[in-house]
Amino acid sequence: MKILAIGATGFVGSHVTHQLMVQGHQVALFHRGSTTTSELNSLTHFYGRRNQLPNFKAQFEQFSPDVVLDIIPFTEAQAQDVVQVFSNCTQRLVAISSGDVYRNYEGLQGQESHPPDPVPLTEDAPLRETRYPYRDLEALDFEFKQDYDKILVEQMLMEHPELPATILRLPAMYGPGERQHRFLPYLRQMFDQQPILLEEEQAHWRFSHGYVENIAAAITLAVTDDRAAGRIYNLGEASTPTLRERIQALGNLVNWHGEIVTLPRDQLPSHLQMNLQWQYHLATDTTRFQEELGYVEAMTKEEALRQTIAWELENLTATSPESRSLSR
Ligand SMILES: NC(=O)c1ccc[n+]([C@@H]2O[C@H](COP(=O)([O-])OP(=O)(O)OC[C@H]3O[C@@H](n4cnc5c(N)ncnc54)[C@H](OP(=O)(O)O)[C@@H]3O)[C@@H](O)[C@H]2O)c1
Repeated sequence: MKILAIGATGFVGSHVTHQLMVQGHQVALFHRGSTTTSELNSLTHFYGRRNQLPNFKAQFEQFSPDVVLDIIPFTEAQAQDVVQVFSNCTQRLVAISSGDVYRNYEGLQGQESHPPDPVPLTEDAPLRETRYPYRDLEALDFEFKQDYDKILVEQMLMEHPELPATILRLPAMYGPGERQHRFLPYLRQMFDQQPILLEEEQAHWRFSHGYVENIAAAITLAVTDDRAAGRIYNLGEASTPTLRERIQALGNLVNWHGEIVTLPRDQLPSHLQMNLQWQYHLATDTTRFQEELGYVEAMTKEEALRQTIAWELENLTATSPESRSLSR
């Protein structure tokens, strides 16, 4: 197949590109050119900024992809560009969305007063009633945060039947290269054999995660299997542990003998007091993707955690001499 991938040289996208290449597909990449690897040298690259996509229409038409994969659609205007640019030159579109479309996300943030929706959330669970979830986050440094809204992206793409779209809602991603270093604060405590402090309700909170290579395999499957056309899918682990269970699984792999200690919010140190409503879980149901496309996670949770720990350790030892003791 011929595949044009937008923003597929980063954390998730580079794995998807790799897997598509291994399967023998012809891949072309659209991105700014600031992230790439030597493996990608042999591919066709269109260099441009996201908002310049319409300027490349003629070149995309010449490439004539069977499928367009958009890893980085963030705003309604960007989704509209995609529809306008590709309606006449491809058969199918696959776009990356997020679990932040669900109504429980705004409940978690304390933005709405509806009761928590039961989990796991299927693709038909209620969506956020508010829009632009990151607009007011002053600390967030993100180019498109003003207009970011995956609900508007999904709506724009799904209302154009002439270009059948597949929407893939991603969970919290982890694995080598993950910029948030989700597990690092816990690992630091564990290497020092310290207890992990959590708010009481937080310990029971469920948040779907996905290991980067597993998610990339799922995206690759959706790109290459026409049965995905016109469908919305949650991606992520088959079952979602509580935060306590996830931390304990991590601890078991690094010989941590400490304890998870739960406290009321006001008794936690201030840097651990998060203004979140933990009764709003973000665990998604991934059965639809497994049943309709026959997807099975290739890498077990344990191995995925091992790979992530090894990468964090490499970083720690490479970046800070003081941290060398942590890795022993
Ligand atoms: N990480 C998570 O936990 C999580 C959770 C849910 C959903 N998601 C979704 O996953 C996607 C992000 O994937 P990722 O982690 O692979 O992203 P990433 O590592 O940030 O990579 C971004 C990609 O887009 C290109 N790019 C960035 N800004 C661009 C611009 N203005 N114009 C053109 N190209 C641009 C980059 O290449 P150049 O630098 O060369 O331009 C790179 O290929 C997003 O849709 C996000 O919403 C992530």
